[in-house]
Amino acid sequence: MEYKKIKDANIIINKSSYLVTNPENYKNKWHEVFGNNNPIHLELGMGRGDFIINMAMAYPKINFIGLEISDSQMVKAVERLVNKKLPNLKLINADAINIPNIFGKEIDTIYLTFSEPWPKKIDEKKRFTHVSFLKLYDRIFKRHKHIILKTDNKGFFAYSLETLSQYWYSFERVSLDLHHNEIPIPNIMTDFEKRYYEEGRPIYYLDAVFKE
Ligand SMILES: C[S@@+](CC[C@H](N)C(=O)[O-])C[C@H]1O[C@@H](n2cnc3c(N)ncnc32)[C@H](O)[C@@H]1O
Repeated sequence: MEYKKIKDANIIINKSSYLVTNPENYKNKWHEVFGNNNPIHLELGMGRGDFIINMAMAYPKINFIGLEISDSQMVKAVERLVNKKLPNLKLINADAINIPNIFGKEIDTIYLTFSEPWPKKIDEKKRFTHVSFLKLYDRIFKRHKHIILKTDNKGFFAYSLETLSQYWYSFERVSLDLHHNEIPIPNIMTDFEKRYYEEGRPIYYLDAVFKE
């Protein structure tokens, strides 16, 4: 998907104290960055950041990191954070493919929220639930692997159910319509989710675990 480019986005986001520049320098040291030993949750492709910011506000005993490849997308997030004090939130401007250079075995949960579905077979390797990404996640998960995924894309959801189960994940919860689930699932909406919810589109959800 093509996103609008914002002039000087890189300069704007670099002024934010939430942005961690040179994140590779903090590999195996993220607990020092946060100054505590609380669990660390990572969102890949956080976009404009509403989800990760609201999660950090709702769960102060969890440390959150939002990672996003596009500096233009991140501008909105840093604007939203002006005048907010969230010591449990950090942002990283990087390609998700680089996560093993940024984290050691430090991550407790990964959120894949409305990830690009890359529907063409030729782009399959770019999907965040392709086996090559699942292998990258192995390198950064602390002990138990835990992935929460939300999407509006049925094809990507079906694909993810398949790749995760073939990779021995099991599912704690699966919903084909998150917002109308019989047993409500606690949920904070992302920017894309709000838009799709208002359009009345179903949101697919899964919570996958792999316990050693
Ligand atoms: C459809 S948007 C979803 C944004 C947000 N998660 C939400 O739900 O509102 C997908 C986001 O993933 C980002 N993205 C795509 N590929 C990425 C990659 N390899 N590494 C990091 N971010 C990526 C895009 O720039 C975009 O902001």
